[in-house]
Amino acid sequence: MYTQHDEKRLYEQAKHLLHHDLESADRTITQLREVILYADWKYYVQSEPALADAEYDALFKKLKHLEEKNPELQTADSPTQRVAIGLSERFPTVSHLVPMLSLDNTYNAEDLTDWDRRCREFAGTGDIAYCVEPKYDGASISLIYDDGQLTRGATRGDGMMGEDVTANIRQIKAIPLSAALTKQGVKQIEIRGEIVIHKNVFEAFNKQRVAEGLSPLANPRNAASGTLRILDPNEVKKRGLNAILYHVSTYTLAAGKDRPAGLATHYDTIQWLYGLGFPAPAKEMKLFKHIDEVITYCHEFEGHRDDLAFEVDGLVIKVNDFAMQDKMGMTSHHPRWAVAYKFKARQATSKLRRVEFQVGRTGAITPVAKIDPVHIGGVTVTSISLFNEDVVREKDVRIGDTVLVERAGDVIPYIVKPLTEMRTGEEEEIKFPTHCPACNSELERQQDEAAWRCININCPVQVVERMIHFASKDAMDIRSLGTANVQKFYELGLLPDIPGIYNIDWDRVKGMEGFGEKSVTNLKQAIEQSKQQPLNRLIFGLGIRFVGETTAKTLASAVSHITEFYDWDIEKLSLLEDIGPKVGTSVVDFFAREENRQIIARLGEAGVNLANEHKGPMHTDGALAGKTFLFTGTLSQFKRSDAETIVENKGGSILGGVSAKLNYLVVGADAGSKLDKAKKLGTVNILTEDEFLKLVE
Ligand code: IVH
Repeated sequence: MYTQHDEKRLYEQAKHLLHHDLESADRTITQLREVILYADWKYYVQSEPALADAEYDALFKKLKHLEEKNPELQTADSPTQRVAIGLSERFPTVSHLVPMLSLDNTYNAEDLTDWDRRCREFAGTGDIAYCVEPKYDGASISLIYDDGQLTRGATRGDGMMGEDVTANIRQIKAIPLSAALTKQGVKQIEIRGEIVIHKNVFEAFNKQRVAEGLSPLANPRNAASGTLRILDPNEVKKRGLNAILYHVSTYTLAAGKDRPAGLATHYDTIQWLYGLGFPAPAKEMKLFKHIDEVITYCHEFEGHRDDLAFEVDGLVIKVNDFAMQDKMGMTSHHPRWAVAYKFKARQATSKLRRVEFQVGRTGAITPVAKIDPVHIGGVTVTSISLFNEDVVREKDVRIGDTVLVERAGDVIPYIVKPLTEMRTGEEEEIKFPTHCPACNSELERQQDEAAWRCININCPVQVVERMIHFASKDAMDIRSLGTANVQKFYELGLLPDIPGIYNIDWDRVKGMEGFGEKSVTNLKQAIEQSKQQPLNRLIFGLGIRFVGETTAKTLASAVSHITEFYDWDIEKLSLLEDIGPKVGTSVVDFFAREENRQIIARLGEAGVNLANEHKGPMHTDGALAGKTFLFTGTLSQFKRSDAETIVENKGGSILGGVSAKLNYLVVGADAGSKLDKAKKLGTVNILTEDEFLKLVE
């Protein structure tokens, strides 16, 4: 839609318009519209904001102001009339029952006092009671429940139309698939909320992206909205999304009233939703009687923002009383009865002095920017990963640049951009090495990868990093064999490679500084104990590319001895849950290499466990954990959605069609092609409704 050249031009145009008007109002308006449309597209379609919220707001306000002053220049397609943007075409587009508006922003006590004054004017009253909730930094969604069943989940899109992402929404465990709404006289309800991602899940997610040679996402919000648009619901399930539901936009009741009896306030509605099992912010919400209390709370809360598991970028203040809300109404852009109080962005500027290139366990070379120490949100930042060459080029950062650094919550700091207006002309381009900084082998970059790699399997840094990973807590868990000891032992020639861990010359260690009898005994014992670790930990510890802890469990549960993988091909691997071609190829390659087979053989000789006695699913968090189901035909004993909920609650998952990955097909009356296909495959268990009920009991 936009070329790179367009994007650069529009970005600069936006920056210019923030502080300057053009020679005519006409031209300024045209250019403002152009940059706002572009910013909307970046934000909603690409999930990659081009501008800071405050900048976007300022441009929007400016356009509105100019259009009001020059009504003859107003047009129906101006973003001020409706934020119209192209939607991604992968999901069907659906209309929202009620337009999804955004919120007006405030930044300080004065803005809040002003807003309160306007509220009181509109409502025609004295003090107003306000509810205050965290402003969750995620992707907004609309959920529709018909007769108590979740029937639709949609993204915000342009506010009028969103994308139907029901299949993905159904994978989010926090969102109930059904609720006892009918009992409350509610036929239909549309609930608004935010899809969020835990800060630690986000970090792990970015690590994975970088490992796959992709650029990391800037913040949890982008990760949440990106995940909602993944085409494979099973993949969505793995991403650990969460949800907070904070608003009911409309009800259809059995008895013509417009809200269920007794729900006269926002506060009560949130408690009501919570009581029905929805993830509403009942515990996080506060009720105040006066704006001064709200302001005090806002300041106080800002100091604790990191205590939440999710990223919050502010607080939302809402008029509590619905009668008052109705009286105040809304503009075309936002409700008058709610406002966002935005926290200060945790950003700072610093100077980029040099770039170091670090070698990772898999040989990937990571550029790390060394900056002048700078304090952001309570920590001092001196080193920032630049991830890979593409990130460096995209951001166009140079040595000597003044850079804008941001730390979102507990998330690792990153460079937002260089401040190009501060350049003196002395800045130097960041040059990528052609040879490994550790072993001097020539670096390679594969076509579909962002990382340059050292492919020397004996590269000393990689060897050390692999051993550190092998001994780490989530792998073989050899306590006291941490980074420092591995490094020291390696340098002294005591620890040449992974199997060498089980063959250390203890006589030499005993004489070393810092290794008393006790620490040697402890270390020996930890190494000895690690021999009994279950197979999944060993597989994870071997450091096969793209094989994380979950995949390692899947792999381990599929064999009774690790060497069985020597005969597995990609077809066989891809029958396992969650293993696609990329992971499959990496696993096949790993086990095909002679040096890896030798490592495994030496581990076996040393007494390390290579077997899985309990071949079969290793996740035991639900009776149906790891099992896949599909329902077909007309079911008479239960509703399909209820049965699916039962399966999911017991840890199983629902597949979209019959394939080799399917474990159970539950058939009702008049089952057709799915049943035929399952019979033909011969690997699917075919169940009647009765048999299914017995199984889940
Ligand atoms: S109320 C008409 N409450 O912030 C109701 N919004 O910047 C409007 N958001 O579009 C929404 N946390 O996606 C509301 N507690 C909260 C929120 C919240 C996050 C999002 C929402 C909205 C955006 C505006």
